[in-house]
Amino acid sequence: MGSSSLFAIVFLSWVFFISRTNQLQTYESQVLLQLRKHLEFPVPLDIWENYNGDLCNLASTPHMSITCQNNSVSELKIMGDKLGKVSEFYGSAVPNQTLSKSFSIDSFVTTLTRLTSLRVLGLVSLGIWGPLPDKIHRLYSLEVLDMSSNFMFGSIPPQISRLVKLHTLIFDGNFFNDTVPDWLDSLTNLTVLSLKNNRLKGQFPSSVCRIMTLTGIALSHNELSGNLPDMSTLSGLHLLDLRENHLDSELPSLPKGLTTGLLSKNSFSGKIPEQFGELYQLQHLDLSNNFLTGTPPDVLFSLPNISYLNLASNKLSGLLPNHLSCGDELGFVDISSNRLVGRLPSCLDTTSNNRIVKFGGNCLSIDTQHQHPESYCKEANMEKGRSRGEAIGVLVGVIGGSVIIMVLLALGLIILCRRYRSRGCMEQHTSPKIVQDNSTSGISSEFLANARIISQAAKLGSQGSIAGRVFPLEELEEATNNFDQSSFLGEGSIGKLYKGRLENGTYVAVRSLTLLRKYSIRNLKMRLDLLSKLRHPHLVSLLGHCIDGSGQDESTASRVFLVYEYVPNGNFRAHLSESCPENVLKWSDRLAVLIGVAKAVHFLHTGVIPVCFSNRLKTNNIFLDEHRIAKLSDYGMSIITEEIEKPEAKGDSSKSWHITKSEDDVYNFGFILLESLVGPIVSGKGEAFLLNEMASFGSQDGRRRIVDPIVLTTCSQESLSIVISITKKCTSPESSSRPSFEDVLWNLQYAAQVQATADADQKSDATSQNSQP
Ligand SMILES: *[C@@H]1O[C@H](CO)[C@@H](O)[C@H](O)[C@H]1NC(C)=O
Ligand SMILES: *[C@@H]1O[C@H](CO)[C@@H](O)[C@H](O)[C@H]1NC(C)=O
Ligand SMILES: *[C@@H]1O[C@H](CO)[C@@H](O)[C@H](O)[C@H]1NC(C)=O
Ligand SMILES: *[C@@H]1O[C@H](CO)[C@@H](O)[C@H](O)[C@H]1NC(C)=O
Ligand SMILES: *[C@@H]1O[C@H](CO)[C@@H](O)[C@H](O)[C@H]1NC(C)=O
Repeated sequence: MGSSSLFAIVFLSWVFFISRTNQLQTYESQVLLQLRKHLEFPVPLDIWENYNGDLCNLASTPHMSITCQNNSVSELKIMGDKLGKVSEFYGSAVPNQTLSKSFSIDSFVTTLTRLTSLRVLGLVSLGIWGPLPDKIHRLYSLEVLDMSSNFMFGSIPPQISRLVKLHTLIFDGNFFNDTVPDWLDSLTNLTVLSLKNNRLKGQFPSSVCRIMTLTGIALSHNELSGNLPDMSTLSGLHLLDLRENHLDSELPSLPKGLTTGLLSKNSFSGKIPEQFGELYQLQHLDLSNNFLTGTPPDVLFSLPNISYLNLASNKLSGLLPNHLSCGDELGFVDISSNRLVGRLPSCLDTTSNNRIVKFGGNCLSIDTQHQHPESYCKEANMEKGRSRGEAIGVLVGVIGGSVIIMVLLALGLIILCRRYRSRGCMEQHTSPKIVQDNSTSGISSEFLANARIISQAAKLGSQGSIAGRVFPLEELEEATNNFDQSSFLGEGSIGKLYKGRLENGTYVAVRSLTLLRKYSIRNLKMRLDLLSKLRHPHLVSLLGHCIDGSGQDESTASRVFLVYEYVPNGNFRAHLSESCPENVLKWSDRLAVLIGVAKAVHFLHTGVIPVCFSNRLKTNNIFLDEHRIAKLSDYGMSIITEEIEKPEAKGDSSKSWHITKSEDDVYNFGFILLESLVGPIVSGKGEAFLLNEMASFGSQDGRRRIVDPIVLTTCSQESLSIVISITKKCTSPESSSRPSFEDVLWNLQYAAQVQATADADQKSDATSQNSQP
């Protein structure tokens, strides 16, 4: 007894000692707890409750971290689950994503400013609403301030100019609706300025061009108008993202160190400056959807590091010289929907290069893609009457128009995909780990997302290491028992699928394709290598291929075999059908599958290979592995299918419209959502179903009638409503009103969250009932 009380005394004095030396000042602990209350107890801070130790020692989670220095909080990062602008997208049907009416941003910031040692502050997706109070400047040590994805509006307070140590300022995804401040040059150490996705008006302030430390400026998706000033003084600038504004000047000179310039979807006019030819670091340039005129400078194509060049949907005219030279890194070029004439330069000829080139909707003398008659480009140039050739003109116009629609659709997807900025946690899941997240600097991963997406394209171009293996035909014949009926798995959307077992015991799925026309092996191989480089946890990996050139001519291929990883647990469609009851997935499992697939498609859309827009999305192209992780197959086939099946719908505009529609991933994903709701739909009946049954989703009775009973018994109404609403949007006949994949993903993640909460509530109800005496 004596010894144990002695032990207790020693122990207590030890605790006391520790708390004296290491513990956060109780004052600051109190401040933190008050902040939690102000924020209406967000889930990531649940771990603060009943935590008796020092908050400084609390292990970081992806959604919460505290760092202390000298017994004061120096870094505080909280990422909530209130999805910021997403509620705008839901309309009124959505639960309230903001903090309640009683939240006062003024008291909140007053409390916050008591953490006087804060250097890094991240408050993301917490539902914070109101105008940001000026007194935020009292946090005079701040170096990083990130309050993205909240509901702040009004102006960005001028007193922020007093935070002279600030090097990163991020207010993405709010509702700031004044002008971009013109005092930003007081922040002499600012490296990152990111105000994407707000409602900022007025001009781009020229004071920004005096902040010599800047490496990244992102002001995309605002309402900026007028002139873009000369930016060539910003010698350290790598990233300039001004997409989707109303800027309408000529393009200014850009800084020489720029690696990524995103200026699409504005109203820029005039010629592309020759000065762009001096941007030797440039990797990614997007000038699409503006009103640029003149002939693009030749040097643009031959810049040493350029990998992505998008000039689509402008008014560029004239002819590109046949001897045009393309940079070694150049992997993607889009010059479609302009007024270019003459021949396609040989370095843009896709049949002989490992390069993706889009050139439809011009007046080029080339027959493999839809082109306008030369008069279109001339007429359009001169803005003169169009009195000639009505009948032919109209017909060609219709064809050309549908091409333009296709191109616009593809571009629209690129743009839409980037409209809703990725917010933190999601990006970490959707981005492959090709580029290291250097979050040590305190820059949030979402800010790096753009740069990351973009550099992937470049990296993939140079990274030879994970190119697909080349399998000898004999090995595949052995693996599949000579493509015996017993190893036949089924007919894929293209080609036959066999199960095989390699010598080392690995199971693979082998797709066999017959080429209708003969193509160069070299070209095909490059494209297949590109596909093999696409790696994502929710994609069935392409392990390698075998090109069978056993025809007469060694240099052309007649058959090709694609070797994929084998995913053992059947396809999603089979898991939706009651015909095999033990396998039927309940609602939350279906959501998990859908989220996985949406992540994979989002990955395909965001630029690794910028043309992966039609991925043949179907429930029977989604496979489940032994842990029921969803994996998408048949993706990216458009890269090689033009080598396999050329579209024949040249003269028939209704048919090309149909192609457009059926190749839209969002639309097709809408059908996957639909089948997840109602069970498998007999193929070909989808459209009819839409017409007849969609309305039934509106009423409770209708839902009970058409929604799969398994879903009805395992879902919460709220979660179901979210998915029904996004399904309707995806299958909208108007492609322009369909959401982007990012939106789709957000909605699904949100639905899953709602479902998880409902399931947890039910569980706790059940346990509390069980524990009743
Ligand atoms: C820690 O606090 C002490 C006293 O307040 C001060 O003298 C010292 O400079 C501080 N150290 C750091 C690293 O801030
Ligand atoms: C948001 O919630 C508050 C408090 O719960 C409520 O007063 C307000 O009307 C809600 N806003 C919307 C758009 O539902
Ligand atoms: C700006 O950054 C430099 C280098 O990091 C630093 O020495 C300087 O003190 C900073 N200026 C301010 C005002 O914090
Ligand atoms: C910004 O939005 C707020 C709230 O919607 C509105 O009251 C205010 O007038 C707007 N300010 C400007 C400059 O448009
Ligand atoms: C091109 O990129 C590489 C690697 O990113 C870099 O080392 C090189 O300096 C760049 N070349 C030029 C001319 O900027």
